[in-house]
Amino acid sequence: MLFGEKVQIESPKGIFTPPLHGCPPLIFFAAGIGIAPFIGSSRSARGCRNGGEHAFARRLRELTDLLPEFELVTAYSAPRAQDRPLDDYDYAGRLDLSPIGSLLPLSPLVYLRGLPDFTTSMTSRLLERGVPRFDIFTEAFAPPPVVPRMLEAQTVRIFDSDTSFIWTPDLSTLLDAALAAGLSLPSGCRVGKCESCLMRVVDGNVAQLGGEDSATGQCLTCQSVPLSKLTLAF
Ligand code: FES
Repeated sequence: MLFGEKVQIESPKGIFTPPLHGCPPLIFFAAGIGIAPFIGSSRSARGCRNGGEHAFARRLRELTDLLPEFELVTAYSAPRAQDRPLDDYDYAGRLDLSPIGSLLPLSPLVYLRGLPDFTTSMTSRLLERGVPRFDIFTEAFAPPPVVPRMLEAQTVRIFDSDTSFIWTPDLSTLLDAALAAGLSLPSGCRVGKCESCLMRVVDGNVAQLGGEDSATGQCLTCQSVPLSKLTLAF
C-alpha cells in the first residue's frame, strides 16, 4: 500500500464479543487463518495442515512466552518431515476436543472460526459433549449470500394454516415482517445464533443474510429475506 492511499474501514461487527463481566472460560477454536481474531486470547486451539501453512506461527510463539495466561494448542493434519512435534505443533491429526476436555464441565463459551465443515463438525461434537447451543459461537468462511439488488414484495404463507403475511424490503427480515403483521414467530436472539427461529421452507426460495446454506430446506427467519412467494412450516 502506498502512502496517501485511501482504504475503506468498517466498524467491528459480528457475534464474537466475549462478555466483559463474569469469567466463564473462553475457548477459541480456529482452522487455518481463522486464528487471526483469536491471537492473544487466553486459550486457543488451532489446526492447520503443516508448518508451511502455519500463519502467525512466530507471533503465537512470542505470545506463549510473553503471557503466562495464554495457552495454545496446535494440531497439524498433514505435518511435513521438517515439522518438529512439540516445537512446531502439539499433535498430528485433525483438531478435536481433547485440548479442552478439562474445561467442558466449567460451562465455557466456545468460539469457532474456519471453513463451514470445520465449524459444523466442531459444533456437533460440542453439542454431543453437552455444551449448550447458546454457548457456541461460530464464524464460517463462506461466500457472501447472493441477494438481488431489487427485491420485490412477497406473500409468505404458514403451512397448514390460514395465516399469511406480506414481506416488503422495508420490513427487513422475514421475522420482522411477521412481527409487523402481528404474527408471533418463535425467536430468541435475532442475531442468527440461537436457531429458535428456524423454519422449514416448504415452497419458494430465500436468501439467508447470515451466510447459512439456503439449500438445506430450512431458514433462520431472523436472517432471511424471500426471493419468491414462500410457504414456511414450523
Ligand atoms: S432468533 Fe436466534 S437465530 Fe433467529
